[in-house]
Amino acid sequence: MDKIKIRGGKPLSGSISISGSKNAALPIIISSILADGPCSFSRVPNLQDIKTVLNLLSEMGVEISEDLGSNKVTLQCKSLKSTEAPYDLVRKMRASVVVLGPLVARFGKAKVSLPGGCAIGARPVNYHLAGLEALGAKIELENGYINATARRLKGARVPLEFPSVGATENLLMAAVLAEGETILENCAKEPEVTDLAQALRAMGAVIEGEGTETIHVQGKKSLHGCNHEIIGDRIEAGTYLAAAFATGGDIEINGISPGLMEAVLAKLEKAGACLDRRTSSLRMSSSGRPRATDVTTAPYPGFPTDMQAQFMAAMAVADGASVITETIFENRFMHVPELVRLGADITIRGNSALIRGKSKLIGAPLMATDLRASAGLIIGGLCADGETVINRIYHLDRGYEQIEQKLAALGADIERIKG
Ligand code: UD1
Repeated sequence: MDKIKIRGGKPLSGSISISGSKNAALPIIISSILADGPCSFSRVPNLQDIKTVLNLLSEMGVEISEDLGSNKVTLQCKSLKSTEAPYDLVRKMRASVVVLGPLVARFGKAKVSLPGGCAIGARPVNYHLAGLEALGAKIELENGYINATARRLKGARVPLEFPSVGATENLLMAAVLAEGETILENCAKEPEVTDLAQALRAMGAVIEGEGTETIHVQGKKSLHGCNHEIIGDRIEAGTYLAAAFATGGDIEINGISPGLMEAVLAKLEKAGACLDRRTSSLRMSSSGRPRATDVTTAPYPGFPTDMQAQFMAAMAVADGASVITETIFENRFMHVPELVRLGADITIRGNSALIRGKSKLIGAPLMATDLRASAGLIIGGLCADGETVINRIYHLDRGYEQIEQKLAALGADIERIKG
């Protein structure tokens, strides 16, 4: 297993380009199941999770031509040899559960493994299933699998209990081929949901209201192929900003609209960062240690849970004490004991962490536990004096394109040790 070795203590500086969003690309690639013609997507990040979803679709019989080196993929789904998403693939990547909606909408049936829990929480799919039932699908759970069937889904009013990102995406993809109008209520407003709606619209879907609480969909009998460019990854962008900020650096990030990450930018400013927002780029400079700043995660447009670990790493070297509260996932503090190994002073109480900032962290061997926790540990290592070696970094390869190269371009002393 590969490891990452960092010699920390250097401020990051320079300029990097942000990749396409992983969390937008995954459902958008899956949405090609809905279209009769070829769907070409650009700015697809070259990541392990993307390879996993392409593998899943290819096993089902979707024709795929990909050049991930150039961030391009074309998918054509004329017919399928299988409408099953097996345990081995869903277990590796929970996002694959959103094949359920498009499969049952276009082919009338789907057999998808229940994902089970993961490192950050139980993560059930009850909202996905209740929504599909409201659209007329028959759902049965058997041997760890969800079996969904429908002659043709029927538009309906579907109130979501919580604005779940995955459930909103699954139901949106189901509704575009349902008969009549669907009104999805209490939807997730994340930019990745908006990007999916735009890709679906490029296929001919009739959708209004994405990015708000209520999405209206007029179902169509069929959808056609499309061309679509994936939006920039706001979490990747936020991660590099947090890394530069924690190290007292000065960086420019290109290919991201600052408007998509206002909650993170506002907290960075409160903590002392100086920002210059442009149309599709951003410059951030910092001087001295971050100021302690409290954060509570929330659905978009609130502070993203996917930035919690990275912000905490920055607060570990802040001047003063801060409280970070996690409201989305129940077990998302796995990075805390690892940051403590670097000398951070962090106490967990329930779903909050009290971080008493230290002027110095000291390098240590660490273990990555999930994707964003790993990013938090990288930031910890970049701040720490001496050498930090992070084990199990395959988590990082699921979500960060060329992370060592990008950090090295910003002046970090970082290398991958092949295992
Ligand atoms: C997506 C993102 C993930 C991000 C999360 C929250 C992708 C591939 N992943 O995950 O990076 O951290 O949004 O912004 O886009 N829940 C239920 N029942 C359900 C569905 C969700 O109880 O049927 C709960 C979850 O356990 C969790 C909360 O709702 O506690 C939010 O989950 P959700 O928004 O669905 O996250 P994902 O779509 O899984």
